[in-house]
Amino acid sequence: MDSDRRTRKATETTESAVVDNREYEAHLERSRTVWDRWSDWYTLSERDFEPMREDAMDRLELQPGDRVLDIGCGPGVNFERLRNEIGPDGELVAVDYSPEMVVKARKRVEEHGWKNVEVRRADAARAEFDVPFDGAIATLSMSVMADIRDTAETIYRALTPDSRFVVFDVRPVPDGPTRVFNPVIRRFLRWYANWNPDESVIEAFATVFDECAIVATYNGGCTYTTVCEKRNQSAGG
Ligand SMILES: C[S@@+](CC[C@H](N)C(=O)[O-])C[C@H]1O[C@@H](n2cnc3c(N)ncnc32)[C@H](O)[C@@H]1O
Repeated sequence: MDSDRRTRKATETTESAVVDNREYEAHLERSRTVWDRWSDWYTLSERDFEPMREDAMDRLELQPGDRVLDIGCGPGVNFERLRNEIGPDGELVAVDYSPEMVVKARKRVEEHGWKNVEVRRADAARAEFDVPFDGAIATLSMSVMADIRDTAETIYRALTPDSRFVVFDVRPVPDGPTRVFNPVIRRFLRWYANWNPDESVIEAFATVFDECAIVATYNGGCTYTTVCEKRNQSAGG
């Protein structure tokens, strides 16, 4: 490659990185606005999805004393059950990007007097954790992340070997004639939840995790639970 072409290519790469970064920041900012707004109206969604969240938490198979991560925790809808599983000797770290959701989640912690539940305001993709987790969960949050694959990588790094990440989430109609509604569903979710239309959550998990399987589907396949495993690398996986 001659030097002019090399310079042109480097400039194009830099420009595309700047655009990517601008889009990423715009998605995050919109997430903040959308979820701050919905934070006052979350009770309905909290009730509607309770059985699916419960099923997802069953599949974490937590033990007393475990450390668990809750990604995109919202107002803390999973806290009571997770705290019951890990008991007073475990630790729950929860992350959310919306300041208003974080306020509500912290209020829930305070009201219950849980000493071992910490709520951090952070972009899940860029969060850093010093001590690894025995399990992680994300309910209705992975599909709204600005970069789903980066977020999955962050979670993978944060887990101990032989642990799992359980995800309950929403997707367009996977098959059958009702797929014709997908463009409307996509538009609604984008407006309502700042849903990320560009990425497949399940594909991102399959790339990052050692094993990944959909273990339950609901509502004609539009909501589903996935279990992603991180294996013990030194065991030859
Ligand atoms: C639909 S709510 C889910 C809340 C809760 N997990 C549940 O099951 O109802 C999605 C949450 O993801 C959070 N979120 C969106 N983007 C995020 C990001 N980049 N990092 C962390 N949290 C994020 C939102 O603020 C919101 O609270």
